[in-house]
Amino acid sequence: MEWGMKNRLSRLIQKDGKALFLPVDHGYFQGPTHCLEKPGETIKPLMQYADALMLTRGVLRNCVDPATEKPVIMRVSGAVSVVGEDLANESVVTSIQEIIRLNASAVSMSVFVGSKYENKSLTNLSKLVDECEDYGVPVMAVCAVGKELEKREARYLALSARIAAEIGARVVKTYYCKENFEKVVEGCPVPIVIAGGPKAETQREVFDFVYDGMQKGAIGVNLGRNIWQTEYPVASIRAIRAIIHEGYTAKEAEDLYNQVRNLKA
Ligand code: R5P
Repeated sequence: MEWGMKNRLSRLIQKDGKALFLPVDHGYFQGPTHCLEKPGETIKPLMQYADALMLTRGVLRNCVDPATEKPVIMRVSGAVSVVGEDLANESVVTSIQEIIRLNASAVSMSVFVGSKYENKSLTNLSKLVDECEDYGVPVMAVCAVGKELEKREARYLALSARIAAEIGARVVKTYYCKENFEKVVEGCPVPIVIAGGPKAETQREVFDFVYDGMQKGAIGVNLGRNIWQTEYPVASIRAIRAIIHEGYTAKEAEDLYNQVRNLKA
């Protein structure tokens, strides 16, 4: 692996081999998402606990201090919306020149395996990988399900994650599933990070799935709404960070969450 690629990956995946990515890219298809109306304010208290931010170029340019040392994973697919015909019909919306100019440590794009636009999104991924590999920029594939949340089961996730890795993604983001998540990880030759999906009913549910996902081989998370849409986002990210980087169990994370939450109360 070239020095540039290694260097960028090592900014994202920490020395312990683990990673906590904080995505705030949801506006790219949802507009001003709840609790993300002002992304700069949302991320301000959370950034210090994240290993990297995932966002679009628009939010990066307008809402993040250019003096930040926090690495950036730039979402480069989009041109769809929640009110449009099909979320899977994405294009790549950011050039390689812009990716370099904005000093991204990685880029991310969605792939929609099994959708009407499967071939388009996978071809987009292959072209993006070709361009980014020329410049040593890792591509993180986001295994997306659009509005079909029921697709989040092991056979589908394993299929999607493996295909994304075969095409050349250096990291794959996929959902967690309770049954057979280890098969998703085992079938994917590159590191896997877990997305959270819509906000869970309780924080404990989140700590449970992050802990279980890590036990089953994920290297970390790319988790947004279950952090910044919660009542105590700082307590939430600190507890999740403790699971990922300090080996806390879900119960220990919940205790930390309660301690930090009470400090803030
Ligand atoms: C979708 O909006 C983006 O790809 C998110 O970055 C991804 O879904 C992770 O965010 P969350 O944990 O909120 O699902």
